[in-house]
Amino acid sequence: MNEGKRVLIGIGGGIAAYKVCEVVSTLFKAGVEVRVILTSAATEFITPLTLTTLSRHPAYTDEVFWKPIHQRPVHIELGEWAQLLLIAPLTANTLGKLAHGLADNLLTNTVLASRCPILLAPAMNTDMWEAQSVQRNWQQLLQDSRYHNVGLGSGLLACDRVGMGRMAEPGEILAGVTSLLHSGGKRDLLGKEVLISTGGTREYLDPVRFIGNPSTGKMGLALAQAAKYRGAKVTLVHAPATWEVPLGIQTIPVVSAAEMRQAMLSHCSDADLIIMAAAVADVKPADYAQEKLPKRLLPSSLTLEPVPDILVELGKRKQPHQRLIGFAAQTGDIVTPAWEKLKRKQLDAIAANPIDQPGSGFGSDTNQAIFLDAQGRQQQIAPCTKLEMAHCLLDFVI
Ligand code: CTP
Repeated sequence: MNEGKRVLIGIGGGIAAYKVCEVVSTLFKAGVEVRVILTSAATEFITPLTLTTLSRHPAYTDEVFWKPIHQRPVHIELGEWAQLLLIAPLTANTLGKLAHGLADNLLTNTVLASRCPILLAPAMNTDMWEAQSVQRNWQQLLQDSRYHNVGLGSGLLACDRVGMGRMAEPGEILAGVTSLLHSGGKRDLLGKEVLISTGGTREYLDPVRFIGNPSTGKMGLALAQAAKYRGAKVTLVHAPATWEVPLGIQTIPVVSAAEMRQAMLSHCSDADLIIMAAAVADVKPADYAQEKLPKRLLPSSLTLEPVPDILVELGKRKQPHQRLIGFAAQTGDIVTPAWEKLKRKQLDAIAANPIDQPGSGFGSDTNQAIFLDAQGRQQQIAPCTKLEMAHCLLDFVI
């Protein structure tokens, strides 16, 4: 989906600059055309040669500011060329300049000479980030709809402080880049609340053994990231997962279907869009042992009880302004059972995806599906990343 797209990356002077190498390399491998501008402070942390090598194109620095490309100023050429501008790490200095429309180097001139969406990945020491002037500049900048925010992490910083200020990880930045390339920066979910469930719920027999499934929750994570970049306020209810909790998204961890039901029902009334991407374990053991059962006491057969169907309950409570979306992970014929589930669960749309095809289903980073809706529309989605599929599903239902 990103192949042939043009991404300009502005690197500021911060230690997180080294993490941007992975972003450049991954984008290049995905077929994206990447150009890089380093501020003079950035060249103290990372060399233009590194970025030239990774992007397969000479990196730009202030030294080439006045050397024209095709007889035109570099900042105008680059500003017009870019379909997306990523600034990572965004330092307090560059942030201040952008907030006030200042342009004293190649990067800030290029920002003013461009019209594309700009994705910001700030990184700085906690006290610098919390300084009133920096917060004022940050809030002011985000008023401008051109600017999108990947979020800011917390943890151990290079200055040995533990707190806010870590730059988002490359995976988060790449999710932002893909999302903005897909949406062109439009916020078609602005003012909307999106509630998503994801992952495989677990029903424990004793403290260590459970009935579950191989779902990793990546599809729901991708939906949450896609909705965030389209302007939504997102709540993600997730079963046990190995991925990092995404920045800027409210997450509610759960384990069992009962906990997921409780979380979904208590948040559903505020939501405009509700998506059940979770793989809910359909049954639970009738008995639970408080202590770990020794092998010799394990039952030779289990008595199972059904767990509540959360989507059916959400369907019954659905308000006129709400859209309710389900998933149907199937083997064999995926369409017929999906139509049946769409009707039975009173859904507005359903994504039927095969789990018996290579590169799709549980745990995979890619997926394929057929989307169906209550009006009888049907759309086939060819194999693509889960983030791309998430955007296609949002396009389908909005
Ligand atoms: N679902 C749910 N609660 C359950 C089971 C499923 O909310 N207890 C939701 C899933 O999150 C998914 C949709 O219902 O969005 C379809 O799930 P699926 O397991 O395919 O459907 P089932 O109704 O369980 O039907 P079956 O297992 O018989 O195919």
